[in-house]
Amino acid sequence: MSAFPATRMRRLRQADWSRRLVRENTLTVDDLVWAVVVSDSADPVEPVAAMPGVDRLGLTALADAARRAEALGIPAMAIFPHIDPAKKDEEGKEAFNAGGLVPSAIKTIKDAAPNIGVICDVALDPFTTHGHDGVLKDGVILNDETVTRLIRQALIQAEAGCDIIAPSDMMDGRIGAIRDALEDNGFTNTMILSYAAKYASGFYGPYREAIGSGAVLQGDKKTYQMDPANTEEALREVGLDLDEGADMVMVKPGLPYLDIVRRVSETFGVPTLAFQVSGEYAMIEAAAANGWIDGDRVMMESLMAFKRAGAAGILTYFAPRAAEVLNG
Ligand code: PBG
Repeated sequence: MSAFPATRMRRLRQADWSRRLVRENTLTVDDLVWAVVVSDSADPVEPVAAMPGVDRLGLTALADAARRAEALGIPAMAIFPHIDPAKKDEEGKEAFNAGGLVPSAIKTIKDAAPNIGVICDVALDPFTTHGHDGVLKDGVILNDETVTRLIRQALIQAEAGCDIIAPSDMMDGRIGAIRDALEDNGFTNTMILSYAAKYASGFYGPYREAIGSGAVLQGDKKTYQMDPANTEEALREVGLDLDEGADMVMVKPGLPYLDIVRRVSETFGVPTLAFQVSGEYAMIEAAAANGWIDGDRVMMESLMAFKRAGAAGILTYFAPRAAEVLNG
């Protein structure tokens, strides 16, 4: 490389056309997965206070959202349920109701927009009275007992037409167990997106309000979600989930963990998704609402940052807004 003045880095930056010509990464609508909150009581929508601009959607509003996603070219939607608290119990049995909110939401999206991919969380927290992702006994989350239940939950989702099963619970061995159950039951084409590197994070706060598990959560999730201080452990988690049959992996939260997105995508060369979680959304929206940052600009910059770090796609509550900006 030659030195200044033969090299002037600013030459290539001088015009919009030359900046576009040498741009290294692109963000397109194809990179976006719309994270949506569905509710069995919203009619048609209920705002989520901690996430301005995000509503819990009733099924009619969800059908409209699916048609909107299709029109915008968004490839897939990830659904997160808020259920009537009266339907919650210690074990989260509502997760196994084939006529429950999640199976209905899957069918609603498929009817409204058959070409949209549907992604469902596998974890018990929206359904348990204690707000944990698994079976709680004497203050301990039981691993193997939880996995047995996650298999049932995943099969009910696959049966209802879910395309991508996304276990977000962080139990050990659940990817292999779910993959075997899918194969044994004829769901050989159902994909698994493992929340492989999921950290015990404060950035999930607004989500817990959105699905109504925050007020009830007892303790924290540090015995199953990862320590924010660790990197090597994330690589082990991803390696195990791929060996067990995951088709894609996810890193979560997103922006504070871009180093993990980079390491995972480079080390394994598999589709690596990132989740721009509720707290990241809330931070951008809160600052924008105060006029402290330009919300749309920071939204687009943050999404591009995921691409630069090596993400194949991004789960985000911003998906329709970002798609509108991208579609001009
Ligand atoms: C639960 C789950 C969480 C999120 C997705 N699935 C929260 C948690 O683990 O407590 C977070 C999503 C977000 O914050 O946007 N299994």
